[in-house]
Amino acid sequence: MELPFAESWKIKMVEPIRKSTREERLQWIKEAHYNVFQLKAEQVYIDCITDSGTGAMSDRQWAAMMMGDESYAGASSFFRLKDTITRITGFKYVIPTHQGRAAENVLFSYLVKAGDIIPGNSHFDTTKGHIESRKAIALDCTIDEAKDTQLEIPFKGNVSPEKLEKALAENAAKIPFIIVTITNNTAGGQPVSMENLRQVRAIADKYKKPVIFDSARFAENAYFIKTREKGYENKTIKEIVKEMFSLADGMTMSAKKDAIVNMGGFIATNKQEWYDGAKTFCIPFEGYLTYGGMNGRDMDALAVGLDENTEFDNLETRIKQVEYLAKRLDEYGIPYQRPAGGHAIFVDADKILTNVPKEEFPAQALTVHLYLEAGIRGCEIGYLLADRDPVTRENRFNGLDLLRLAIPRRVYTNNHMDVIAAALKNVYDRRESIRRGVKIVWEAELMRHFTVQLEPLEPLK
Ligand code: F0G
Repeated sequence: MELPFAESWKIKMVEPIRKSTREERLQWIKEAHYNVFQLKAEQVYIDCITDSGTGAMSDRQWAAMMMGDESYAGASSFFRLKDTITRITGFKYVIPTHQGRAAENVLFSYLVKAGDIIPGNSHFDTTKGHIESRKAIALDCTIDEAKDTQLEIPFKGNVSPEKLEKALAENAAKIPFIIVTITNNTAGGQPVSMENLRQVRAIADKYKKPVIFDSARFAENAYFIKTREKGYENKTIKEIVKEMFSLADGMTMSAKKDAIVNMGGFIATNKQEWYDGAKTFCIPFEGYLTYGGMNGRDMDALAVGLDENTEFDNLETRIKQVEYLAKRLDEYGIPYQRPAGGHAIFVDADKILTNVPKEEFPAQALTVHLYLEAGIRGCEIGYLLADRDPVTRENRFNGLDLLRLAIPRRVYTNNHMDVIAAALKNVYDRRESIRRGVKIVWEAELMRHFTVQLEPLEPLK
């Protein structure tokens, strides 16, 4: 008999989690203004709000922390991190930052000016925030197929070469660089193919523009290239990663994802001009160049995490768990962005809460109902997260309205996945009775979904 699949690790330390009652949760979500970001973590049973900084470090990462060098300048931890990044990505200049958005802040402070246009594939909200707050435009050039959640194609995160070419043909002078997010988080954790990265490079070269990879989940992207793209099946993840980054001029990295640390990030590039430009912003915003917002020990854990998570077994364990949850949802007929993403399942709220008008934020309503059902915390990646148009101040209802169930790395078992699926099924089975969503009572001007205060438009039970 063929042996079943099992995790490529065993568990050495555990953290108790606690169930709650529906009555408790009704009270807690009310106190949180129906915004799950404002819940206390202890009010959550299974936490799928993000896969960012929530992974379980390995024994080797914890061991590396003991070797951290906390020198202010020139710490050996920095050089271990830098050498690892250079070995894995090929980039020789490295600026550590405290997380991904800090890398964006530092690099974009140098690169983005008012009136610029930055084309890319579904810029993440902090990326968009750092562009729009500088009065520039984040131009989404994702392929149209990404919007059809039921369409099953292998590289749904791709950049549309036609849209990118059009942007450059019309506005080359205003475009300082192109940014490609691997994997494409907002489109559903969907990968970008090597072929597409090559196409972007060719267009960029034609117009003499540099390319940045937003690399938060680059290793998961490499896994998908290995398992889905012809010609890559026999290459190692590290070989694929090297090839990917050879097509970029630089990267911003949230190490809280694919480097499996709780906090950390960096900028890496081969362009000395970018390094020199970013340097001057790193020091006031983040810290001196050899720590940039991180402890020495955290840089060591990051270096080991990068190495571990660019190995096939670790990635296979991770992505198979996401696929496992997807299979459960398939059994129950629950629609989500297909195929399953690398780090999360993105449930298609629009297709489930069909009675809730988009002005009442169906995905947020579904997020609240799932929390009430079983204390499971997902996250809206939809109309709330999309913010208002910076010019018209109208809500942006033109994208997808999804409930993201992000799976932390090496944290939950497939039994937890079964609970998530069953809870979602219970909400799904009574979807017809959910007729109203939520209304906004207070919102911030930018990145409102973190702090927005909401009220339900029908009583919740
Ligand atoms: N880029 C992508 C693609 C991301 O998904 C994130 C964070 C960032 C940049 C910013 O990195 O959080 O370290 O500052 N995504 C998290 C998420 C928050 O839940 O998807 P950060």
